[in-house]
Amino acid sequence: MVEVKNIYKSFGSKEILSGVNLTLKDGEILSIIGKSGTGKSVLLKLIIGLISPDSGQIVVDGVDVTEFSEGEFNEKIRTKMSMVFQEGALWDSMTVAENIELALKIRKHLPEEERKQIISESLRLVGLDDVENKFPDELSGGMMKRAAIARAIAIRPKYLFYDEPTTGLDPVLSNIINGLILSLTKKLNTTALIISHDIDGVARISDRVAMLHEGKIILICNAKEMWNQQNEIFNHFIHGDTELT
Ligand SMILES: Nc1ncnc2c1ncn2[C@@H]1O[C@H](COP(=O)(O)OP(=O)(O)OP(=O)(O)O)[C@@H](O)[C@H]1O
Ligand SMILES: [Mg+2]
Repeated sequence: MVEVKNIYKSFGSKEILSGVNLTLKDGEILSIIGKSGTGKSVLLKLIIGLISPDSGQIVVDGVDVTEFSEGEFNEKIRTKMSMVFQEGALWDSMTVAENIELALKIRKHLPEEERKQIISESLRLVGLDDVENKFPDELSGGMMKRAAIARAIAIRPKYLFYDEPTTGLDPVLSNIINGLILSLTKKLNTTALIISHDIDGVARISDRVAMLHEGKIILICNAKEMWNQQNEIFNHFIHGDTELT
């Protein structure tokens, strides 16, 4: 379980997060929605220890990691977390296999034989064939997303974080990637936190949905009940009505 407790974060004089409270429960898929620039990516970066909050706490599996040094965080926490970044973020100068291998090497010490096995299994799990020796710029957008997901699952993380996994993909591909996220969460027994603008996808694959608005989580509900909420800002957002949001 990941607990985000009363987190504040400013950049310069601009307060981005103003007391965020959120719990990611083991085994669930939780999606965070909210308009562009509200701090969704910032919130994810705080959870994975890439940036520090001004105040508040991040508790992972009962351990307060807020004050952890980078070394301590890497050793104790990062081995159970993986992130699929908003920009896909495969390393351009390496092949797909080398990308996955490096991600594995950073976090886990495994014999080469075992690493090779994990690389092919991870690619198989995301439905990619014959791409091990391809470079990122030889892949289509959808293949790139799959490869980024394969790299993220290589360490078999307990927690998987996805920042806009379907942005920039056509509806058919978005559907495929959403289906993949859902099936991987079940198959690998992981917990997923997804940031998304793809409301229909969110409704389809999430257990719960939270909305970040003006620095706070203003609503969190079961995905099945997301179309019956009383919150006006949330309702306008999920119906794509931009006037109030
Ligand atoms: N390292 C940083 N330094 C200064 N400002 C930052 C930094 N990172 C993020 N911000 C600012 O924080 C705000 C929130 O950014 P963030 O990327 O979290 O938005 P977002 O909700 O993920 O938006 P989008 O949906 O467009 O991805 C923005 O105004 C952004 O400019
Ligand atoms: Mg973002």
